Amino acid sequence: TNHLIKTHFPSMAQNNDVARFFIDVNRLTAATTQAPVKRPREFTCFSYDKNHRLHLDDSSLKWYYPPQAPDLPANLSAGFDQFDKYNSQDEHLDSLLTAIAHHEQQTGQPIDAKFVTWRGMMTKLMGAPYDNDGFEMNATLFQDCVFIEENWAGKAGREAVQNSGWKGPISQEQMEFWGYKFETLATIPRPWGETSREVIENRGNEVVDNKQQYCSVVRSEIGGKVLCLGGEVDAIWDYKPKEPGAKINWVELKTSKVIQSPRDRFNFNRKLMKFWAQSFLLGVPKIIVGWRDRNGMLVDIEEFSTQEIDERVRRESHSGDWPWRPWVCVNFASEVLDWIQQVIRADPQQSGVWRIRLDAKTKAIELFKVEETGHGKILTDDFVN
Ligand code: A3P
Ligand code: MG
Ligand code: MG
Repeated sequence: TNHLIKTHFPSMAQNNDVARFFIDVNRLTAATTQAPVKRPREFTCFSYDKNHRLHLDDSSLKWYYPPQAPDLPANLSAGFDQFDKYNSQDEHLDSLLTAIAHHEQQTGQPIDAKFVTWRGMMTKLMGAPYDNDGFEMNATLFQDCVFIEENWAGKAGREAVQNSGWKGPISQEQMEFWGYKFETLATIPRPWGETSREVIENRGNEVVDNKQQYCSVVRSEIGGKVLCLGGEVDAIWDYKPKEPGAKINWVELKTSKVIQSPRDRFNFNRKLMKFWAQSFLLGVPKIIVGWRDRNGMLVDIEEFSTQEIDERVRRESHSGDWPWRPWVCVNFASEVLDWIQQVIRADPQQSGVWRIRLDAKTKAIELFKVEETGHGKILTDDFVN
């Protein structure tokens, strides 16, 4: 059916028409080859400061320095009442576009990407074969490049439904805080050699915020499609190499509940798909898991190598419950990008806003036009000009 849709889609890229790409997990799983990929290389970066203001530099970069023996277990809820929380709003691609435009002006060269988006959107596209929730994105074509953003309105609606059944003793907000608290406990704002003992020892008393961020902007390739992705990286292991394009020892920090049963293990291994995809897309080689108990006590820290995650998951799975395969994600991402590009390019209008939607029930990616012309709010005037 995918083949039929592929050959017929040009006629579907019309008003009120929905193009559909059905996800055939069995076919994807049976594949014996994986679409070629190129290692992501950072070509620029930006930071948000304590007030979530944008700076086109690496000022919010953090260094990884895990809490040690006497500081573990640590209470991840400590300081929740002072959480300096960013009230997130729909920021579209604005800061990513600002960083790209700045880079283009500096080098005098436009980037060569055919897709520009946040790393989070690519994580969703890669994970679509295993996604039971669905997602919505907006896309627009500009100078033969497809720009993709989250459809924020659709996200709010889905989250309200997902969270409405929550009745646990600890609020969602507090559990979210645990992740940021772990970041505060496991990082320092300067390299280890330049950081005083006091700063390291005082990390438990720091006010936790989620306004500061360091974002890496990379060029990568999946199945021959050049992508430009922007995404947050939590910390660096050692130092940022001077040579452009060199491998960077990024660290992704995660918290997760300690594994106590086969069921827990299966759920964690399934969750590793997102950790893996997220890290794979920006070229983050290490994922640090902060193991916590159900009350938010951090009890242990474990290092995972991004490259070895899928082998580990395979080893720990029984034949019937192997939860995900990396080539399914990579090949699907490659196919769906090809398809999105072809449908959007075939549109005579050559502008307008498209919705990309995963219908989790029918396991189909839907693509249809929601605005006939313009670029919606996906592109800023500054960027277009
Ligand atoms: P953990 O996932 O480690 O618990 P990231 O892992 O992407 O660096 O995000 C850091 C933290 O932000 C997460 O910590 C979690 O607390 C919060 N977070 C990230 N994505 C979220 C989401 N979709 N919903 C709620 N909280 C989220
Ligand atoms: Mg993060
Ligand atoms: Mg993290």
